[in-house]
Amino acid sequence: MSAQVLSRSAQKLRPSVFSELTPRIKELGERCIPLHIGDTYRLPPQAALSALQRVASEELGTTRYFRYTHPFGRAELLEEVSKKLVRDNGIAVPPSGIQITCGATQALCALAQSYLDPGDEVIVLCPHWPLIRGIVETVGGKVVDAPYKETIEDPGAVLKPLLTERTKVVYFANPNNPDGRLLNGTEAERLYRFCAEHDLHIWSDEAYEHIVFDGREKVSIGSLDSGADSPRVASVFTFSKSFGMAGMRVGYVAAHPSLMESIRKVSTHQIYDLSDLTQELALAALKQTPDQYQAFLSEQTREYEKARDLLHTAFPDSEKSPGGAYLFVEFENREQAWNTMLAWLEKGVSSAPGEAFGGLHPNYLRLCFTAVPFSRLKEAVEIIRSVPRA
Ligand SMILES: Cc1ncc(COP(=O)(O)O)c(C=O)c1O
Repeated sequence: MSAQVLSRSAQKLRPSVFSELTPRIKELGERCIPLHIGDTYRLPPQAALSALQRVASEELGTTRYFRYTHPFGRAELLEEVSKKLVRDNGIAVPPSGIQITCGATQALCALAQSYLDPGDEVIVLCPHWPLIRGIVETVGGKVVDAPYKETIEDPGAVLKPLLTERTKVVYFANPNNPDGRLLNGTEAERLYRFCAEHDLHIWSDEAYEHIVFDGREKVSIGSLDSGADSPRVASVFTFSKSFGMAGMRVGYVAAHPSLMESIRKVSTHQIYDLSDLTQELALAALKQTPDQYQAFLSEQTREYEKARDLLHTAFPDSEKSPGGAYLFVEFENREQAWNTMLAWLEKGVSSAPGEAFGGLHPNYLRLCFTAVPFSRLKEAVEIIRSVPRA
């Protein structure tokens, strides 16, 4: 078939950065210690597992979980998410300001399609989550890279020169993938004020909202939007990271109901609705008792912090990520990073190349410390230590 039929934006999408490495990873099979993707070895909360068991035993033979559900999300889940947003994020939105989505990924796709006309620009704080670039570009938007650290220190100095009449949105992940950087109260306020002064909207991607280390402060920028005259923040969350449920594909986006009306229409046209079973498990995770909920998240943070510290022993000169699931390690140049990545892979440890995370970090590698249990991570650290930097 002629490729002419495909849209320019589809043809321009980059293949997965891992595609070059996939044959070797496949060949290694079980022997590969997969630190290249952001997954977890942990089980979801017991409440979610019990819900799955209950559904399997009580609803087998009924059509309960095989029917369509409401396109915005189940009413009960919207209620619980609304309570959670106040409690965990300081974001006051009613259920009518929430859309349940197929993970944070589709939440961001719905935002891109809701906000952007071809040629509109999105400033993306870098290094950035790999998929955001393609999400913006497939609807004809243009990504403008800005350095994360410098931007949150002084948004005016960094962002002002990048503004054009097509600049519409600032996107960032908080905590960030790949380097775990996050926003404290002062930084969030500074960035919010700058965006308000320049009439910019904000997409706050908080996929790693609960994974924050060393007792640090992490502020959801959407909390500053509650009660604002011109609401400008859409906050994106997921059950993938906080509750180890990536395979269930459930997330949500929260924004002022005036913005949500369009986001909901777009989401309906993208996926119609989300599996009821998936929503049942998400609901179970949120409806744990407050003690169970806190205990699950605290234990997770403790384990991940220990894992971060272990992996960091292999890179004592690198920054210790303040949150998230990865170390982002600097090398002298792209070639050294790439050769080291290949040398680790030869010995069974996979990692992700820096160029996946925007144009500003080709000399970096990202390694996930939540993907495998501690004992396996230890093996990876030994392998990494045994390989001299190329
Ligand atoms: C920063 C960030 N945003 C969004 C996502 C997508 O999450 P989900 O599994 O909910 O689609 C990820 C997944 O790794 C991520 O790292």
